[in-house]
Amino acid sequence: MLNPLIANIANVPAIVLGAIATLLVVFVTSLKGTGWEPAADISDELLERRASAVPETDFPEPGNRAIGGGGGGGAIPAGGEGEEGELEDAEAGGSGPGDIPEDEVEYFEVEFVKQGETVELSNNEPILEQGEDEGWDLPYACRQGQCVSCAGRIADGPSEDFVEHDNQQMLEDAEIDNGYTLTCVAYPRDSFSIETGEAP
Ligand code: FES
Repeated sequence: MLNPLIANIANVPAIVLGAIATLLVVFVTSLKGTGWEPAADISDELLERRASAVPETDFPEPGNRAIGGGGGGGAIPAGGEGEEGELEDAEAGGSGPGDIPEDEVEYFEVEFVKQGETVELSNNEPILEQGEDEGWDLPYACRQGQCVSCAGRIADGPSEDFVEHDNQQMLEDAEIDNGYTLTCVAYPRDSFSIETGEAP
């Protein structure tokens, strides 16, 4: 009978051979791949199934779910005058004071009192942007009508006699009546003089 120590030593090459064989099997398997294939794209099928679950409507295109409107169309009342016009407006991205077609743009003479210049401003861009286009360093922060950093004052009367605000949220009626405007969301509607950097 062999001494146990000698028997263990004799087993070492067998262990090494076993490890090499295992690595070889793993290597060959990885070369062949596992045969797994990604599932086919089922998004079209899912869309079809969802579309079939939405009731048919009488809406004209594109409100009809047939082009993918689905649930969004449900909020629009069916029938009635001007329905298509509203849909077209929505498609065009809304109807804010700056959404004026290029061929209908008007220009007004605007005096920037502190800058000592009078320039022509279009009615489809905010006063702030057009002043910056002139190279003036005008004050601003949010550019969304939610602070008063860009405020200016039109001394000739209520500011909304001369500009249209696009969703300004800071000025009160009395301040607007006193000529204050937020230039980042104010679109010229007439000629006027403005002092920039004037907050109520
Ligand atoms: S920059 Fe904030 S309201 Fe105009």
